[in-house]
Amino acid sequence: MNPTDAGRRYFLKGAGALAAASTLPLSLVKLAFADAAQDFTFAYISDAHIQHIEGTKFVRNWDRGLIRAVAETNLLTPKPDFVMFGGDLAQLGSKPELDHGGEILSKLRHPLHSVMGEHDYYLDLGEYWSKLFGPHHYSFDHKGVHFVVLNSVLTYDEWTFNRWPTAEQRMLEMAGLDNPNGSPFMVGEKQREWLKKDLEAVPKTTPVVVFSHSPLQKIYKGWNFWTEDAEEVQAILAPFEKVNVIYGHVHQIQYNQIGRISFNAVMATAWPWPYPATYAQAESAMPVLTVPMNRADPFFERDATGWQFIDMNTGRVTMKFNLYNNTNRVVAFNPATGRPEDRDFQDPAKRIPPQDHY
Ligand SMILES: [Fe+2]
Ligand SMILES: [Fe+2]
Repeated sequence: MNPTDAGRRYFLKGAGALAAASTLPLSLVKLAFADAAQDFTFAYISDAHIQHIEGTKFVRNWDRGLIRAVAETNLLTPKPDFVMFGGDLAQLGSKPELDHGGEILSKLRHPLHSVMGEHDYYLDLGEYWSKLFGPHHYSFDHKGVHFVVLNSVLTYDEWTFNRWPTAEQRMLEMAGLDNPNGSPFMVGEKQREWLKKDLEAVPKTTPVVVFSHSPLQKIYKGWNFWTEDAEEVQAILAPFEKVNVIYGHVHQIQYNQIGRISFNAVMATAWPWPYPATYAQAESAMPVLTVPMNRADPFFERDATGWQFIDMNTGRVTMKFNLYNNTNRVVAFNPATGRPEDRDFQDPAKRIPPQDHY
């Protein structure tokens, strides 16, 4: 759909609501809309990894990725109802990085919600981040959808509090991939109890969208594409008819369906992670549904970075990937098959064959 069509559709819907309002008392109109999920949009930006060099110098590439996402989301028509930032705003959790990232995000012309990433957390355990962006976990309701934000990058207390002589070393150890000194992410018992209580009052027919930084599923442990208590969190979400988990951290397109829970990953604005060859050898469960990105040029650093424009249609996620230097992709829930699917490339016959580079 082009922006003009979208505008017309929204205009017509608005006209319908006005017509209804003219014939019904206002309270009845409100009641009619109170429980049903309405269609709306929001934008999702993630993994900016703003990296401080010294003084007022930051890694320019990562800055540019975030600045571009903010500028482009500001131009969206129709306007998104809000913007979600999916975590890893900073590279090493420092004040200059969080301040600088926050300053870039402050140019957004939409309300902002934020998720905690491990790169934001492990220097001061999210203390400064909280001053800028609010609580680590919370929920809110919007147009008939219940949104939950979790801090899914916690780990064992022994690792967090006793193992490292300095906060800086703790941060560096958690920032590395394939690092035997790292530790698996988890939501943790305290937050799971909070989640149970939070969802008690939510009708099972209400669409639920959960934002986490790490996948609330187990994909690849070596890179912490993994949440240790994923099954326990999934069990809390399982009774709901429509659940979507949206996560950052993996810097690549992934999607999956487990029971009634749909999973969608989002892109980074900083850099893409490859789909590692080690997936075939190490403990992993790359979702079989996922059609990997086709990277046009492995030497092009902006290939497979971008941000997302998300349509919430009847409480389901349609994830539109805006890729800076690659073919845009749309991954949408297909009611016929009951799972998210790539609109253009799910059918193996329609996929673009991977390119060879010599
Ligand atoms: Fe990241
Ligand atoms: Fe991350």
